[in-house]
Amino acid sequence: MSKSSPNFTCTACGHAHRKWIGKCEGCGAWNTLVEEAPLSSGPKSLGSKGRAIHLTDLATIGEAPPRASSGIDELDRVLGGGLVPASAILVGGDPGIGKSTLLLQAAASFAQHGVKCLYISGEEASAQVQMRAQRLGLTEAPVALGAETNLRDILTTLDTERPGLAIIDSIQTMWLDTVDSAPGSVSQVRAAAHELVTFAKRRGVAVILVGHVTKDGQIAGPRVVEHMVDTVLYFEGERGHQFRILRAVKNRFGPADEIGVFEMTGSGLSQVLNPSALFLSERGQPSPGSAVFAGIEGTRPVLTEIQALVAPSPLGTPRRTVVGLDSGRLSTILAVLEARCGIPFAGLDVFLNVAGGMRVTEPAADLAVAAAILSAREDVAIPPETVLFGEISLSGALRPVGQTENRLKEAAKLGFSQAIAPKGSKLGQAEGMNVRQMPDLTAFVGEMFGAG
Ligand code: TYD
Ligand code: MG
Repeated sequence: MSKSSPNFTCTACGHAHRKWIGKCEGCGAWNTLVEEAPLSSGPKSLGSKGRAIHLTDLATIGEAPPRASSGIDELDRVLGGGLVPASAILVGGDPGIGKSTLLLQAAASFAQHGVKCLYISGEEASAQVQMRAQRLGLTEAPVALGAETNLRDILTTLDTERPGLAIIDSIQTMWLDTVDSAPGSVSQVRAAAHELVTFAKRRGVAVILVGHVTKDGQIAGPRVVEHMVDTVLYFEGERGHQFRILRAVKNRFGPADEIGVFEMTGSGLSQVLNPSALFLSERGQPSPGSAVFAGIEGTRPVLTEIQALVAPSPLGTPRRTVVGLDSGRLSTILAVLEARCGIPFAGLDVFLNVAGGMRVTEPAADLAVAAAILSAREDVAIPPETVLFGEISLSGALRPVGQTENRLKEAAKLGFSQAIAPKGSKLGQAEGMNVRQMPDLTAFVGEMFGAG
């Protein structure tokens, strides 16, 4: 080891340091540095001649190999229309959320659709995986199963078997004998992922890597794995809810932000083809504090219910509790309501929740959030046949959002008849919807809740 080589790596961002310090210089996180053996002693002199690489032009395209369908529509859509051969996919999620269940079902389904599948478990013994397969009713599927953590042996096996798809569950349990640190450490995870991704590209085998995510939403160890793979999917959901959402956060072969919705049942995950109907099915009688948001997730419109509760606070600093939305966004909306519409929230606790365990990231949800909060504060229910969408700017103006027509069509399909949208929205042809366009939040408050 050369003396000057950095040998402390931040587990949160991967930044390398020469000595141990309490706070990472890369991301500012505390106590995230771990000692790592350097991967090599640095580049040797590049004096010797390399091999000339084969160059081509932009116009010549070979026949694109067909994508493989898993037969699970929700999974295919999140992958961008099926599995791309020789691609590397990372599936992240909290422990126990259902990654192994999803991937075992995916492996079985791919295998039944003619893709040779290998499932390598580093966490469970073969017998345990077999028991799970039995519970899921998948024992007939021609999936080759292995329980191993030594990557050298796994790569040799993959090289002889040449499957179309190899699933590695999980990347944190894999270890390479060439790297001098414990499995799960930053350098092991990075080296193992690098070997597998390189193998995928060179040998034309698609690989799916499973990664456990730490509490703060990062794949345990380095985020470097995210940069190495073609596609990053997150499997998320609330523990208490049976819904699980598979979300593409990066995809070189399809739209990012696409979601697939699943339901965890006693016999595994079943796909939910019409998530709007499902998210709204729990909605009871129209009550104050509830607003339906017509959102877009990836390429698909999804209707969700936003619930708010506003109550007098016994605390000096009132509570702002948010589930399923960005808390910064709530603060902004409350500030705009106070400053532009003159509606105070001092001394009031505000609780906000997206029903069904869904997570909404679109700024288009602003108007529905404001509506739910106002409806709770004024104790006035929003008419039940109404959906809302629109972005709120700091000036209190409502900004039109994309894909208005799709939002309206989905709402009409689910029996809604009225929409409240920003002025200037491109409505397209949405039959059966009465769209009321509002220029700003003040107009909206006046119209819905009197003068506020
Ligand atoms: P698992 O796939 O082992 O999670 P991960 O691989 O992400 O750690 O899922 C485990 C959870 O799923 C466990 O809490 C039980 C639940 N589960 C069901 O509800 N139904 C099922 O059919 C299966 C197999 C698991
Ligand atoms: Mg697992």
